[in-house]
Amino acid sequence: MTKGKFITVEGIEGVGKTTNIDFIRKKIDAAGFGCEVTREPGGTPMAEEIRNTLLNNRTEFVCEETELLLMFASRAQHLKQFILPKLSHGDWIVCDRFTDATYAYQGYGRGQSLANIALLENMVQSTFRPDCTILLDAPVEIGLQRAKKRGELDRFEKENIAFFSRVRDGYLELAAKNPHRYRIVDATGAIEEVQQQLSLVIDALIGTP
Ligand code: TMP
Repeated sequence: MTKGKFITVEGIEGVGKTTNIDFIRKKIDAAGFGCEVTREPGGTPMAEEIRNTLLNNRTEFVCEETELLLMFASRAQHLKQFILPKLSHGDWIVCDRFTDATYAYQGYGRGQSLANIALLENMVQSTFRPDCTILLDAPVEIGLQRAKKRGELDRFEKENIAFFSRVRDGYLELAAKNPHRYRIVDATGAIEEVQQQLSLVIDALIGTP
């Protein structure tokens, strides 16, 4: 059994991750591969509990190191219990956010040391990295406008424009540093335009052994 591919989808809030992940899954399914969609933080019962702890609005001040460590606690559980076994079984995985989100949000957004994030990444993942990271990119104002229409905002969605600008710039810097696995998709236009770009990326992955 050949190992499946691990695709991660990243971007700030409101860039259309959910709709586009569904489109990606259908394309992979149609090509005859088993495909699982999952998300971070979360993806197993225990990791979903950590997600709630992270996203819930609370009056208590949340220490930045606590936030960073909980992201990796959720990831360790998800990786060992779900992602690695599925990939070695031959399934493909489309993951709504992964470690690039930690660099973008906790690193560039909150100002946590990128070197410390790299240490935790190596501890939890060893050399495991995504086969492909799709960055859905749109200006912060457009993303936040769309996100605000979705109802009650979680602890991250309540951050200000300056925070999300740092996160977006961080993602673009990560994409420039990792061109071999990053594909930037312009998420500003109509859904058909975005999905045309996504089709090219997924067809290339399907065609690569
Ligand atoms: P979601 O709403 O896209 O599911 O993501 C939940 C929030 O968690 C989102 O605002 C981004 C944030 N997040 C981080 O800050 N660091 C991480 O490592 C991950 C995976 C998500």
